[in-house]
Amino acid sequence: MSAPVLSLPSIPSVSGPTRLRLPDLLLETDRAAADVLDGRHDHLLPPGGLPADARWFTRLRGDDDLDVWLISWVPGRHTELHDHGGSLGALTVLSGALDEYRWDGDRLRRRRLDAGDQAAFPLGWVHDVVWARSQVPTPTLSVHAYSPPLAAMSYYEVTERATLRRGRVELTEHE
Ligand SMILES: [Fe+2]
Repeated sequence: MSAPVLSLPSIPSVSGPTRLRLPDLLLETDRAAADVLDGRHDHLLPPGGLPADARWFTRLRGDDDLDVWLISWVPGRHTELHDHGGSLGALTVLSGALDEYRWDGDRLRRRRLDAGDQAAFPLGWVHDVVWARSQVPTPTLSVHAYSPPLAAMSYYEVTERATLRRGRVELTEHE
């Protein structure tokens, strides 16, 4: 007796929110980091230099597929625990260092990102990012890419029961 042949309905492939994948975003942040280091975005930097007491950011590129941001980080100014809405993300650290605290389902896990390091953020990634001490002076500089372009971010807190509680949602401003 032969086993019955199951005929499964074909499952339509699910299209993601973007045609780009995490390796594409990592490549984009690498390219943009090289452009920044080569001085090709110097005209976007604040005339008085990067602020020493606040996080600063500017958009290097924005189109339907992708947003690329240059961000500077100073001590004591973290991002709060957040996600990236429906966007994938990636970053490359240009100079200095960052600490990332990622929610792993049970607790926050820290990883240090030094100059040249990269990180990728799949959908659902919840983290906080903060300046970290290194041998170079502040601020830390990093390039971030999001696809589709970042539209909204949710902010979270960790409860006393070691769960995440979602708080406010903020829309990302685009000029
Ligand atoms: Fe983030």
